[in-house]
Amino acid sequence: MADLSIVVDGLRLPNPFVIGSGPPGTNANVISKAFKEGWGAVIAKTISLDASKVVNVAPRYARMRVGPEKEIIGWQNIELISDRPFTTWIDEFKRVKNEFPDRVLIASIMEEYRKDAWIEITERCQEAGVDAFELNFSCPHGLPERKMGSAMGQCPEILEEVCGWVNTVANVPVWAKMTPNITHIEEPARSALRAGCEGIAAINTILCIMGVDLKTLRPEPTVEGYSTPGGYSCRAVRPVALRMVSECARMMRAEFPGRSISGIGGVETGEDAAQFILLGASTVQVCTGVMIHGYELVRKLRDGLSAFMDAHGFATIDDFRGHSLQYLTTHHDLVQRQAAAKAAERAAAKGMVTKDGAWSGEKFVEQSDKLVSNN
Ligand SMILES: Cc1cc2nc3c(=O)[nH]c(=O)nc-3n(C[C@H](O)[C@H](O)[C@H](O)COP(=O)(O)O)c2cc1C
Repeated sequence: MADLSIVVDGLRLPNPFVIGSGPPGTNANVISKAFKEGWGAVIAKTISLDASKVVNVAPRYARMRVGPEKEIIGWQNIELISDRPFTTWIDEFKRVKNEFPDRVLIASIMEEYRKDAWIEITERCQEAGVDAFELNFSCPHGLPERKMGSAMGQCPEILEEVCGWVNTVANVPVWAKMTPNITHIEEPARSALRAGCEGIAAINTILCIMGVDLKTLRPEPTVEGYSTPGGYSCRAVRPVALRMVSECARMMRAEFPGRSISGIGGVETGEDAAQFILLGASTVQVCTGVMIHGYELVRKLRDGLSAFMDAHGFATIDDFRGHSLQYLTTHHDLVQRQAAAKAAERAAAKGMVTKDGAWSGEKFVEQSDKLVSNN
């Protein structure tokens, strides 16, 4: 039976399944529910020092459905970070850690581009007992005028400076959460790791417009007749997330061995999670999947991952973490490999010996003849 437990950056998790920052970690009640159901760790909804500036709208979600069953494959949100007061969050972090002292609670934090604000939020959350931090450099909507979220994450120099501030005071692991709304995700990832972060988390949502209502001609989700681009998540984003995680993993193997990746994007099964781990992730976060299937999804995730590991004879997560990275290469290399394979096929079809082991005592002279170039 596979062992799903994992130690990442010194944090001990019973399994690699982590609640991703968002509605499933939005207050102490739901965080407790996640721990009771057996999630490996919880990343709380992103918080800032001054929640009064956070004003949400409704509706703020739109969904993409396909097929006769109308399955949900894509999800847009224009939700901001938590609108709950910072002091409430501090009390709730303490309460959750009192109730679940041996479970991993991670604070997701976001602030303006001010050193004193980042230091204050880090120190106060840390005093409340959180086990690690995720720095949100990745929310795609809202607050760009305050240079928060992806506005910061798209600027590797600023991101590096901010990670440096946090790391001067953090005495627990720090992950930097990357935006996918950038051409080369490994650039901000490199900045975060250079500034001392233990790991990176990828990806947050992809900027999108879910669609346009062909009756009203208004883009969705529609608020008072208007809309704004939001963040795309759920199953449809998984291929993009896998690609971006692999890009970070390949860069980190070469430049930052030993640093961790938390893979995120469209995970709903243990098999989905296995693919993130095969491409280098240590943990796998789920946000939209929990909004669709509920907290009990973790049972299906654990069973699916265990079955995959048993089928391959992998005893631990570390046994296959990053295994599939070796099979990623350039298109040029694919062309060369295919040409070599075809040449070998042609030679074999003509009965030509292409490997020394194929020489046979009985057909030795015939085989020699076939290898003569002017035959
Ligand atoms: C409704 C909603 C709210 C979210 N809020 C946050 C947030 O506050 N902070 C954050 O870092 N990510 C937030 N996310 C992004 C998720 O944590 C995750 O990165 C993204 O949705 C992709 O994963 P998924 O397909 O499992 O949802 C939110 C996502 C959704 C759908």
